Amino acid sequence: MKKLYFGSNLKMYKNIQDTVSYLKEMERLTSDIESPDIELFILPSFTALKSAKDSVRNILIGAQNVSWEDWGQFTGEISPLMLKELGIDLVMVGHSERRHVFGEPDIQENQKVAACLKHGMKVLLCIGETAEEKEYGISVETLRKQLIIGFHGISAEMAKKIWVAYEPVWSIGVHGTPAAPAYAETMHGAIKQCLGKIFGSASADIPVLYGGSVNAENANQLIAQKSIDGLFVGRAAWDAEKFNSLIREAIKHANIK
Ligand code: PGA
Repeated sequence: MKKLYFGSNLKMYKNIQDTVSYLKEMERLTSDIESPDIELFILPSFTALKSAKDSVRNILIGAQNVSWEDWGQFTGEISPLMLKELGIDLVMVGHSERRHVFGEPDIQENQKVAACLKHGMKVLLCIGETAEEKEYGISVETLRKQLIIGFHGISAEMAKKIWVAYEPVWSIGVHGTPAAPAYAETMHGAIKQCLGKIFGSASADIPVLYGGSVNAENANQLIAQKSIDGLFVGRAAWDAEKFNSLIREAIKHANIK
């Protein structure tokens, strides 16, 4: 049976107090979900990480970003060692907003991936094509480039510490359109094939999550796809009750064979 992943990136929305009450509510609501094969993870703001870690036990808390350097003259950055100091075990790298709002290139994502793995943390690499790249019919080429550069120099032994999220840029946020489940499945298939080329048989350990305007209406159809191992949810997850019911419904529809 395959493991299912459900997570949310809280972006720059919840302060410490909001994060803690949201997490406690999520933990309470999901505590009876009977499956050892569900991984629930939440990525709060940096300032809320410590309180978030201290407030829940059954939800994996991760960071939204990291510096690729351990220390130095990098004003405003957060070192992987500083995340380790808080007991953080999961870091997201390359979210669409980092790439497109803050202009992070693939090579920087690669440095961040390497930094997380060097310090024993799991890394969630986000990839996705823009609307323009989709228009030109180069979605798969874009994803392959992001994966090949993103994981450059990373050995197959590291595969068990790697997660990937496919989040097409055109699907994210208030102006986004969710990917059709069949389209997402095709892209996930291409991603898994590319991961196989990079990591060989070890790539079977890498979950590939879908993200981008996931909501209660489309979650079940998305998770039912063979190559979709989890859902990475933004807006539709920020209310604990709604995220809890989305997860419960999705589990019923998941393709877990
Ligand atoms: P959204 O965000 O679900 O609000 O579109 C997804 C994301 O940015 O990961």
